[in-house]
Amino acid sequence: MTETNPVEQFLTAFSTSVADDTFVRLVLSGPRAGGERPERVLARLVEIRRLPHLSITLRFPTKDVTRNLAATEAGAWLREQLGKEFHSALLCTVRRDWQLAVPEAGLVRLVTHRPSIREVPSRSHDLPKRDVLDVSAREWLVGLGVTDARGKVRPAMTDKFRQINHYLEILSHLATDCGWRGATVSVGGATPRELVFADMGCGKGYLTFGAWHLFNRQFRVPTRVLGVEARPELVAAGNELAGRVAAGGLLQFAAGEIATAPLPRKVDALIALHACNTATDDAIRRGVALGAKLILVAPCCHQEVRPQMSHPPVLAPVLRHGVMAERMAEWVTDGLRALYIEAAGYETKLCEFVATEHTPKNLLISAVRIAAPAGAATGAAAAAGADAARQRIGELKKFFGIQHHALDPLLAGTEQSAAAAVV
Ligand SMILES: C[S@@+](CC[C@H](N)C(=O)[O-])C[C@H]1O[C@@H](n2cnc3c(N)ncnc32)[C@H](O)[C@@H]1O
Repeated sequence: MTETNPVEQFLTAFSTSVADDTFVRLVLSGPRAGGERPERVLARLVEIRRLPHLSITLRFPTKDVTRNLAATEAGAWLREQLGKEFHSALLCTVRRDWQLAVPEAGLVRLVTHRPSIREVPSRSHDLPKRDVLDVSAREWLVGLGVTDARGKVRPAMTDKFRQINHYLEILSHLATDCGWRGATVSVGGATPRELVFADMGCGKGYLTFGAWHLFNRQFRVPTRVLGVEARPELVAAGNELAGRVAAGGLLQFAAGEIATAPLPRKVDALIALHACNTATDDAIRRGVALGAKLILVAPCCHQEVRPQMSHPPVLAPVLRHGVMAERMAEWVTDGLRALYIEAAGYETKLCEFVATEHTPKNLLISAVRIAAPAGAATGAAAAAGADAARQRIGELKKFFGIQHHALDPLLAGTEQSAAAAVV
């Protein structure tokens, strides 16, 4: 290293580390004032079609933008950034770390340290899958008693931890389907607005905190999450913890009944995990009434359908076993739920979101709105799907002699009343 100019020294260290494959990472920070520069730039070295590339993530306040640059062009790109776009740069290699400061005025300084990382990271373009509830969630996981202070999941909370992780993983895929990743939602193409989620029957708020964390801290998509819960002591504890983790008004808990609690006028996602019995149906009705783009509910116990269910002759020899009648009642209840939601203009999917050993209540109903919200014109395909779902509901109810289902109001169009309690 013969250059005496610190910027040139830094650039040489960078090019050498790329050439001899000792590069670990590059971070640019301290953007120059003015303009729409990212807050930070993070770069790693990856192989794309067997050639080294710099994978660059531009971190803006509300979104990340990633682009790949051939390693042969990376030196020229970095030269453009140093001092002109950013005032600080950190280069980590397995041999040394280099910290460059290029202030607006004053001396340019380059300091070098022992390497903070001594192993060359993977050059795979696809990053290894990251758990949603990683170390960045520790503060609230400790606050909720899910983990201990060192981040170890408490034995009694293993199942809940797994449920929330898996639920959030599915939510993150659906966020992509709904077009919520890497973008703020714009109203009529104008002012971007934050997303709004409601978690109904949120209990202590494991899922409420999780959804807030996933969108605001991981996706960096501003998202207001409201937890609705009947037990005021849980609501108070949730709000207290939200204050402690500096959720900044984007995470709130409110005491109330799922069917009637005031909700924001616009709810993008209606989520619920194990809301008891027909409270799940109340949650679904609220979601439909508010035109939520996404409804994602994991039902709890089922008590409405079984007492009404007759045993069709062909099934009677099987349903005389209580356990089979119980399972069939669950099957019918959730199958009907999916059909009711389809009749309201959604595309639904049912899946098991976690293995049965972590909860027997492991069915997840996901529904993405494909029709226009109530009152607006809907496409022919969505309308035909809704009509077919109505017919299937009628046939299934008749087959099992079911007179009433908590989602019947969705068919009668009375779901508008469920939207009445809106703030
Ligand atoms: C089984 S817990 C699940 C809590 C949370 N979602 C979780 O997964 O950890 C069900 C919660 O829903 C609440 N709940 C049940 N019915 C409700 C209703 N109609 N309105 C508001 N909250 C309700 C209960 O108080 C309870 O805290």
